[in-house]
Amino acid sequence: MEYRIALLPGDGIGPEIVSAAVRVLEAIGAKYGHTFTFQDYLAGGCAIDATGEPLPAATVEGCLASDSVLLGAVGGPKWDTLPGSIRPERALLGLRSALGLFTNLRPAKLYPALAGNCPLRAETVAKGFDLLMVRELTGGIYFGERGRREGKYGPEAYDTEAYSVMEIERICRVAMEAAQKRSGHVISVDKANVLETSRLWRETVHRIAAEYEGVEVEDMLVDNCAMQLVRDPARFDVVVTTNMFGDILSDEASQITGSIGLLPSASLGEGSRGLYEPIHGSAPDIAGTGKANPIATILSAAMMLRYSFALGAEADAIEQAVEGALNDGCRTADLAAGAPDSLTCEQMTEEILKRL
Ligand code: IPM
Ligand code: MG
Repeated sequence: MEYRIALLPGDGIGPEIVSAAVRVLEAIGAKYGHTFTFQDYLAGGCAIDATGEPLPAATVEGCLASDSVLLGAVGGPKWDTLPGSIRPERALLGLRSALGLFTNLRPAKLYPALAGNCPLRAETVAKGFDLLMVRELTGGIYFGERGRREGKYGPEAYDTEAYSVMEIERICRVAMEAAQKRSGHVISVDKANVLETSRLWRETVHRIAAEYEGVEVEDMLVDNCAMQLVRDPARFDVVVTTNMFGDILSDEASQITGSIGLLPSASLGEGSRGLYEPIHGSAPDIAGTGKANPIATILSAAMMLRYSFALGAEADAIEQAVEGALNDGCRTADLAAGAPDSLTCEQMTEEILKRL
């Protein structure tokens, strides 16, 4: 089979980690008899520099014309003072909305080999964890009405959270289906003690859950969830939540895996096309030093094979190669506590390629 993949390397370490993932995809293609063709497009700060806008129309068209999209990271200090409407992050938000990617899957698990990197107490680490965060991605406060106005105390700014029943239902179905393939347990995170959108969220989640045999839903308030994630992550399996809560909680979940450099993500819509990216950012401080960890992007490519192309065996092979490298002690700087013999991005990629 032939698959067209749009590449959006972006800024900072983006180009390094995307080329690492491309090498892995090429190796998988050669081994399993698939052809992956790659086309680069501009997005983020590099697009602002080249065209004046973070998400040029050619990039959106290119993504729409491809079977799937792999993104590195966008943003950096150079563009931090630009107004909101032309910041590099607009590229991500614009793509999510233009491609209709309302689901964001963020798996976070503790690799036994990295138990020593987990900042939690030994008895918590011993229990391990393996959770899937299902974050709503095209609604809520990220896309609500916003602005500046004169308020009671003078000039003020506002952002609004709004969720339709339809938006809650469809993300909820994704979580229920995921749970049916896992342990059947879903934790739905909201702030129903304060927010009206959360009350609608809670009531909708329970109505939809009733349709799914063998799935049990537990509600959890977001503040409590932030606490439980570090107190007892083993109690989580599938977590479903809003755009904003999911943004925050997925960064928290990444930290307890040992490094944010490990976590992949998949953004999906109704069809098979998705946008795959590491959950970490562009890390401008280490760009070009070889210190970037390619694992999150390589695992994102594995998710692409699994979710967009239904190539489960190929995705398994990548995940096993990554785990194999970790088991054999391969460590990039973020995992090696600054050890001088840590692997560069390229060396880690080589180690993974060797184990494919
Ligand atoms: C993420 C990022 C983005 C988000 C930013 C860069 C817009 O933090 O993907 O988690 O908030 O969604
Ligand atoms: Mg985030």
